[in-house]
Amino acid sequence: NVKKILVSRAIFPDVLERLTRYFEVESNQEDRIFTSAELAAKLADKDGVFIAGDRINEAVLAAAPRLRVAANMAVGYNNFDMEAFNRANVLGTNTPDVLNETTADLGWALMMAAARRMSEGERLLRAGKWDRWSYDMLTGSDVYGSTLGVIGMGRIGQAVARRARGFGMRVVYHNRSRVAAEIERELNAEYLSKPALLAEADHVVLVLPYTAESHHTIGAAELALMKRTATITNIARGGIVDDAALIEALRTRQIGAAGLDVFEGEPKLNPGFLDLPNVVLTPHIGSATEATRRAMANLAADNLIAGLGEGPQAGHPPTPINPDVMARWSR
Ligand code: GLV
Ligand code: GLV
Repeated sequence: NVKKILVSRAIFPDVLERLTRYFEVESNQEDRIFTSAELAAKLADKDGVFIAGDRINEAVLAAAPRLRVAANMAVGYNNFDMEAFNRANVLGTNTPDVLNETTADLGWALMMAAARRMSEGERLLRAGKWDRWSYDMLTGSDVYGSTLGVIGMGRIGQAVARRARGFGMRVVYHNRSRVAAEIERELNAEYLSKPALLAEADHVVLVLPYTAESHHTIGAAELALMKRTATITNIARGGIVDDAALIEALRTRQIGAAGLDVFEGEPKLNPGFLDLPNVVLTPHIGSATEATRRAMANLAADNLIAGLGEGPQAGHPPTPINPDVMARWSR
């Protein structure tokens, strides 16, 4: 008998078509955002779900007695309560690696735009306010030859650091634990404590997963350690930065500028950002290239198909988060 899945958001039609080859699919191509109660109701008779950011917690799982696999089309999975997944023997999967380079590119774009005041310059042009050259117009800070500070040296952090070579930068990093010596050598990256990194870096890039421990990794105390000319870029998750504290630091020029792709409470954001000249804002587009979004969608589909025991990789989903639960499934 054919297994049932929910595809909770609109996805590429050909990926949806692939899923229909294996499953009875309820899809949401109109891309309505489900409430938690609607999601729970739709999962009541489903074996699997293709998710893009929707929250799956204890209450949703309790309403989904048949559910075995939830495939997230994202590398970050803070929308999954993994303890509840483990208790319910539900497999969660994510989409690591396929977005590393694309996300690192956006980190650099934001860092450079913040350092060189590009959004501010564009707003000036669009407002028709450019009428002359002046020696100090829109002067920013150098990227080439400066010190890059990467907080969170996972695969995306390493991709950010790798790009620094072409910019003649010193690379310092902080991470829960040091990365392998050969990676430090390859990236020419020096491990520092978080306070030392914040004091020495000209450009700080945040690339760590959002967890209880990483909540407000950057708050008022940390911003106070940074150089007054420094930039900070967040391509990781809202909540890693205390946005109210960052707004205050940008407003008082305690730091130079920020580049932000993620926000506390997104898709809403603290309106304080909108009035600041020295912040570059993008709407969570770190992985948003056609090729990478396709790779993510296909990897999520591969996980769902294999996790539910179908297709060429049946029983071996490529990127499981909690593979141990599979051993507890009765056949
Ligand atoms: C995007 O933020 C992701 O986690 O893939
Ligand atoms: C996690 O987000 C990573 O760096 O791979």
